[in-house]
Amino acid sequence: MLAFIGGTGLNQLPGFDTERIAELHTPYQDAAVRVACGRLPDVAGPVCFLPRHGEGHTVPPHRINYRANMFALRELGVTAVLAVNAVGGIHRQMGPGVIAVPEQIMDYTHGRAHTYFDGDTIDIVSADRFTASVTHIDFTHPYSQPLRDLLLASAAQLQLPVWPQGVYGATQGPRLETVAEVRRLQQDGCDMVGMTGMPEAALARELDIAYASVCLSVNWAAGLSDEVITMDGIRAVLAQGMGQIHQLLLTAAGRFRETR
Ligand code: HPA
Repeated sequence: MLAFIGGTGLNQLPGFDTERIAELHTPYQDAAVRVACGRLPDVAGPVCFLPRHGEGHTVPPHRINYRANMFALRELGVTAVLAVNAVGGIHRQMGPGVIAVPEQIMDYTHGRAHTYFDGDTIDIVSADRFTASVTHIDFTHPYSQPLRDLLLASAAQLQLPVWPQGVYGATQGPRLETVAEVRRLQQDGCDMVGMTGMPEAALARELDIAYASVCLSVNWAAGLSDEVITMDGIRAVLAQGMGQIHQLLLTAAGRFRETR
């Protein structure tokens, strides 16, 4: 089953017909994770939707329980995740309003519970492959290429311009970066910067869930334009760009086939 993880600006999918709200208890938090399960117009299979920041968009990036969220999706039978992330643009192609399907990740987050392979919790994840106590997943290519291809084919079908590459730099937040930090990200090879891409992508890989991200640039990263970055400015770009993201996700869901 396909799932969407919505970020800032994507708390709902238009046309999504919620059939039930699944409440999943996980070993990683007391509260159940609530996932909307339902149908999308012109999409054969069921899909589900998880707003990463909670239903009322109240959980900041560094407080999101990424392990609980991804574990809940796996419990539901999710095999593929399309995640939406708002980012600041670093590469000159990544100005506000641009959509990208990144290829690589650089992780600058810290202090987040970032793995299921944490020694004592290992037997909680009881699938056969989780038998070794020390496990190093392959993360050479952090995003699923079939899902990236699906997104890019969907964009082509819609004639929607999408930047088909890029390195996502994941920062801790919730504050935005300094000029020096953005310069460092740039020197490291990051093309965009966001706060929610990690550890989500790595946890998906640990659970063998295919994962790809659609990034919407909502501002130039700090110091790359003369404008002060404001929440109002970010909201304005989000309001403009989300329509295209919706179309892209709907088209991708229609083309999605279980291949794994
Ligand atoms: N930096 C980090 N995260 C972000 C930004 C940014 O400039 N814009 C949206 N999310």
